[in-house]
Amino acid sequence: MLSIKLSDLKPVDVQNYLQHAIAPRPICFASTIGKDGHVNLSPYSFFNLFSSNPPIVVFSPARRVRDNSTKHTLQNIIEIPEVVINIVDYNMVQQTSLASCEYAKDVNEFEKAGLTQEKSTIVAPPMVKESKIKLECKVNQVIPLGTEGGAGNLVIAEILMMHIDESILNADNKIDQTKLDLVARLGGNWYTRANASTIFEVEKPNLNLGIGFDTLPTSIKNSKILSGNELAQLANVSSLPTVDPSFNDDKLKNIIQYFSINPEEMEKELHAYAKQLIQQGQVNHAWQILLALA
Ligand SMILES: Cc1cc2nc3c(=O)[nH]c(=O)nc-3n(C[C@H](O)[C@H](O)[C@H](O)COP(=O)(O)O)c2cc1C
Repeated sequence: MLSIKLSDLKPVDVQNYLQHAIAPRPICFASTIGKDGHVNLSPYSFFNLFSSNPPIVVFSPARRVRDNSTKHTLQNIIEIPEVVINIVDYNMVQQTSLASCEYAKDVNEFEKAGLTQEKSTIVAPPMVKESKIKLECKVNQVIPLGTEGGAGNLVIAEILMMHIDESILNADNKIDQTKLDLVARLGGNWYTRANASTIFEVEKPNLNLGIGFDTLPTSIKNSKILSGNELAQLANVSSLPTVDPSFNDDKLKNIIQYFSINPEEMEKELHAYAKQLIQQGQVNHAWQILLALA
């Protein structure tokens, strides 16, 4: 294990380690306007949802590590405390990267990146037409997190209006996560994509409280075959299952018959079979297999 005291590193190396470790980070396009009327559009991955009541997003235009200068986004927000947060998806990831070039303050990155300005309904900065989700926000607070290069400026913005493209809605007018094709930033030049082929579901924790690892029978808890993820699914049941007399499984019968003179091997085989069932989402079935050993 490499243990690093961050104060021993150069800011650029701190940034490198942290951006690789705290990833993937969602990406927004922040659109702002200065009091001279110049529009700015810049991507931010130090960005997240922090509250839903009130609805709050935060993002952080940092002081440049190179020369400690501040971002135009921050300068605009201080002049006019409004921002549109446009959610970035895979279709616009290259345009997003292009818009992050350090153009002069009077340059409109919408034009540089080939994106279309769309008038907002409440706030002054325009929205990105191509973005499938746009959040019109007022800025409640800007908290400078330091004064040196690399210091973030925490922008706390309250969402006043949300616009959602119909193409990503399901029949109940809710967002279909498989249709959005979000992208997120990791360390260096790495990005990742969240679409139907990469996302997966994890069942919510049992509202009646799962039994927990500490209640699992020792032979299961100490299994060399079942992983932490698999044990967690077994431990998410409301009460310790008991043998179901009507349970019938040919493979279980075969294992018991074949390995009857070698209990250690039998346990391995049963755990391997249970593992396979858990991976297929058949947790109750897996419990019945494991209970055969009890
Ligand atoms: C995907 C992506 C995410 C970024 N995230 C951040 C960030 O969270 N904070 C930051 O200060 N700069 C970030 N940058 C760099 C800024 O977008 C870049 O410095 C931009 O030029 C700032 O523009 P401005 O000075 O016009 O506001 C990011 C760049 C990219 C491509």
